[in-house]
Formats: sequence, structure tokens, C-alpha cells
Amino acid sequence: MSAVVLAQLDAILARATDLISKAPDAEGVEQCDIGLLGRKNGELTAILKTLSSLDEESRKTVGARANQVKNEIEVMINARRREFAALTGAGAIDISEPVLPRPEYGALHPITEVRQNLETFFRGKGFLVLDGPELESEFYNFEALNIPADHPARDMQDTFYIKDHPTLLMRTHTSGMQVRALQMYGAPLAAVVPGRCFRNEATDVRHEHTFYQFEGFVVGENVTLAHLKGTLEAAAQHLYGPQTHVRLRPKFYPFVEPGMNGEVTCVICAGQGCKLCKGTGWLEIFGCGMIHPEVLKAAKLDPKKVSGFAFGLGLTRIAMLKYGVGDVREFNAGDLNFLQQ
Ligand code: PHE
Repeated sequence: MSAVVLAQLDAILARATDLISKAPDAEGVEQCDIGLLGRKNGELTAILKTLSSLDEESRKTVGARANQVKNEIEVMINARRREFAALTGAGAIDISEPVLPRPEYGALHPITEVRQNLETFFRGKGFLVLDGPELESEFYNFEALNIPADHPARDMQDTFYIKDHPTLLMRTHTSGMQVRALQMYGAPLAAVVPGRCFRNEATDVRHEHTFYQFEGFVVGENVTLAHLKGTLEAAAQHLYGPQTHVRLRPKFYPFVEPGMNGEVTCVICAGQGCKLCKGTGWLEIFGCGMIHPEVLKAAKLDPKKVSGFAFGLGLTRIAMLKYGVGDVREFNAGDLNFLQQ
């Protein structure tokens, strides 16, 4: 008797293996489950029901085998269930699905990159990196820099004044930090000051009311114009390569004497003359000069004992040149399309 049942079990297992592996879809797998293991009419269930009619000895062997077969069938059914679930359910790879956007990574703003690059360079040369107030007093922004209230230079650097605080203004340049820093640290001193500046401008592709400068100055005994030129040359070569030259031409700034315009070999045409440099082969990058005695005096230093040079460059302009940005207003527009390029 038990031999017959055991043979039946083997047959069921063989058929189940065949059926389950050939089930065409999830529905087919469920039908196998019902047909084989279903409580009412499952083939295996039917056999299990006959177990009670067997003698004790046979019930043990047949029962054990029947459970084994049942487990094997369950394992096969579950495996195929997972297979179909993976094709259709959660976690399925749906090849018709649109490609997901790449995860968005943040990046440094172009002006930040240029600023950090210059900071690292000057730190390596022994300069302090200082921060100054964007809301500045008229004294540091103008008066201490030899620009009295009636001086025409105030017109060239018109800015935003603060209502109810007539002596406060949004700084027009980073030069105000010259006197602040000298008062704080005294001489000798070598420092650079990156920072945001403001001017009352009718904005266009070259003019912006908010922009970034990078100031540098060295004050001490016997600081000369040669030091200034050497420093500018080293900075320009750091930015644009060893073939870069610097030329200085006279220009008026009330807080330097002599005052100069620092130009570098055009980064586009290497001095040949092009549209960017308007055919001159040079690009104006720096405002610079030897710190005016009146400025040293405002910092409570003796111009007979110490001298110094100062320069300022437009970080915004350097970034425009570096990244080929045509419109200065892009930097403050917060346009991700621009920033992610
Ligand atoms: N502060 C000047 C400007 O904003 C630049 C400058 C800095 C000139 C230092 C001379 C010395 O144009």
C-alpha cells in the first residue's frame, strides 16, 4: 500500500516541477499552487488525506515523504512568484520608464573658486587673509583713503547710503580695509582682503551693483614699487601661466601715489591683439600704487618710516575671463543653468 502512495508522491513531484517551471505568468503559478496544494482539491492534499487509513508504520514513512514533497513544491512556487513579482511589481526594471535625472551635486560658485585660488596663493606668500564689513563707514571707505566729502572721486564711486545713518554706506571697494587692518595690526603687515562691494550702477553686461574685489597691501620699511610689480607679476603668472607679463601705466586713485593701472598679457591672444583686449594685447586687471602718505597717517603710521603698496583686482572680472562669461549679471542671478555649466 505505502509503495503505491510513495510512487504517487514521486509522480506528483515530477509533474509539479514540470508545471511550475512552465507557468507562463504569475496567474499560472497561482493555479499550480491551488491545483497541487489547495486545501479543497489539491492533488497533494488529497494524498495527505488518505494517510489516516494507513497503518502506523506506513503513515510515518509516507507522511515524512509527503511533507518533503510539499516543501519542495512550495519552494518552487515561491521562487517563481518572486520571479514574476520582480518583472512587474516594486523593484521591477521597467525598460519603458523615462531615465531618472542624475542626483544633483552642489559645486562652488565660480567667484568662490577664483577667490579661494588667490587666497591660497597669497597665504603661501605670507599674507594674512582678512574679512571686512560690507556696511562700512564713510571714514574708512572714503576719508581715510584721502577722499574728502567734496572730492570728485566720490561721484565715480556712488553707492547705497543707509537711511537715518548718514555716515554708513555699502562699501564701494575693499580698499577701506587698508586703514582698518593697519590700525588693528600695525606695520609691518601683508594682507589680502576678498569681499563683496557695491556701487550705484545702471547695470549692463559689464556693470553690476554688487561685485567682488580682492585687495592686497604690504606696509613696512623700504617697501618699493619693485615689490609691487613683482607681486603682481607672480599673481598674474599664477592665474594665467609663466608667459604672462605685467605692465604698469599711470592712473589716478586718491589713495595711492603714484597710482597705476596694472595690465596683464591678454589671455586670449597672448599679446597679439584681439577683440577682448581691443587690439592692445593687454588686459586691465589691477588698480594699484604706492600707499599715499595721507592714508598711512590716517592709520597712525609715520610715512617717513614706513611705506607700502596696495592693489585691487576685480574677482568678478577674473571669473568672467576665466570662464568666458559675457554678462556680469549672471553671477548674481541665481540661475542654476548658468551655475551648473
Ligand atoms: N579700490 C580701487 C577700485 O576700486 C582699486 C585700487 C586698489 C586702486 C588699491 C589702487 C590701490 O577701483
